[in-house]
Amino acid sequence: MSDLTDSSLLNAGCRLAGLRAHTPDTVVTNDDLEKLTDTNDSWIVSRTGIRERRKLADGENASDMGLVVARRALEEAGMEARELTHIITATCTQDALCPSVACILAGKLGAGPIMAFDFNAACSGFLYGLSLVRSLLSENREAKILLVCVEALTRRVNWADRSTCVLFGDGAAACVCSRVARKNDAIVDDVLCQSDGTRNGLIAVGGGTACRYDIGRPVGPEFFLRMNGRETYKHAVRRMTEVCEAVLARNGLAMRDVDLFVPHQANIRIIEAVGSRLGVEGERVFTNVAHYGNTSSASIPLALAQAREQGRIRPGCRVLATAFGGGLTWGAALLRYQP
Ligand code: ACO
Repeated sequence: MSDLTDSSLLNAGCRLAGLRAHTPDTVVTNDDLEKLTDTNDSWIVSRTGIRERRKLADGENASDMGLVVARRALEEAGMEARELTHIITATCTQDALCPSVACILAGKLGAGPIMAFDFNAACSGFLYGLSLVRSLLSENREAKILLVCVEALTRRVNWADRSTCVLFGDGAAACVCSRVARKNDAIVDDVLCQSDGTRNGLIAVGGGTACRYDIGRPVGPEFFLRMNGRETYKHAVRRMTEVCEAVLARNGLAMRDVDLFVPHQANIRIIEAVGSRLGVEGERVFTNVAHYGNTSSASIPLALAQAREQGRIRPGCRVLATAFGGGLTWGAALLRYQP
């Protein structure tokens, strides 16, 4: 195990402390959705594995969930907000186009005049975030970066579109990325992030400048999340499989060397298809999609936090995480937990 004086660690990895997650209290079951649109529990469970998802309360926004996880992550990492050097938020459902969720959080946490910004890599947000914080940590050895992944997708689903509204839920997770050693922290051993902008139309979430609004006129369907499910499914399976194989190969590892596989929680059939291609199944695959649906950028850190709480990630474990989302974006990361 490298220690903190090992300069190779500076470029190769970073430590994730205080990984904490939060989901809203309101549960929306498949039966609830049957009352809103032409769907049913048996179709949703058989095609997606999803039984329920969480929904933000009416008076809350994405930044409110972000604040909950930010405070919890700082507390568990044993840090004060004023010690942070950066706050970075991965989201495609921020409170507003401007200001960023990260700036709202910096203000509410009392973090002072630090660098704070949002970025959008859709469901791959956590993995893109890990890549970003590794770069920042190699530039500044003393950086202490709060990485927040937060999504309020129930605010952008079209409840009349049964092909998408059944899939998504709200949630948040955060961690503090630094070189501070603490027992049970994860070390990021490798991250590989990729994209295919030629297929940007497969998944879209409206609300930007391409949506033209007039005061007093209702918004149209372009305001909401739209997805070509069939095409997305094919690319998701292919790309997550490829990127996992690439990360394992460049680290001289095989799937049998991985203790827990944590795929993006979009759809149980996608998880099983990727698992089958990689040769991993059963207890070594973490899933919580039945209870939360697809929480986009929050999906992987939420799964990691729960896997740790459930004792599925033990000291010394090697974890392989992979995600796929709008953009298109995808990626994979190898994490190692301190023995
Ligand atoms: N309830 C009942 N019937 C439905 C529903 C529903 N909720 N949704 C669709 N159907 C119907 C369709 O209308 C269609 O009926 P038809 O044959 O009479 O026309 C039939 O079911 C089959 O529809 P498909 O879209 O072909 O269903 P499919 O088996 O492909 O499953 C699904 C759809 C679950 C969306 C799947 O394609 C999928 O999971 N895609 C990937 C989604 C994903 O992973 N997204 C990740 C990225 S998201 C992001 O980045 C924000």
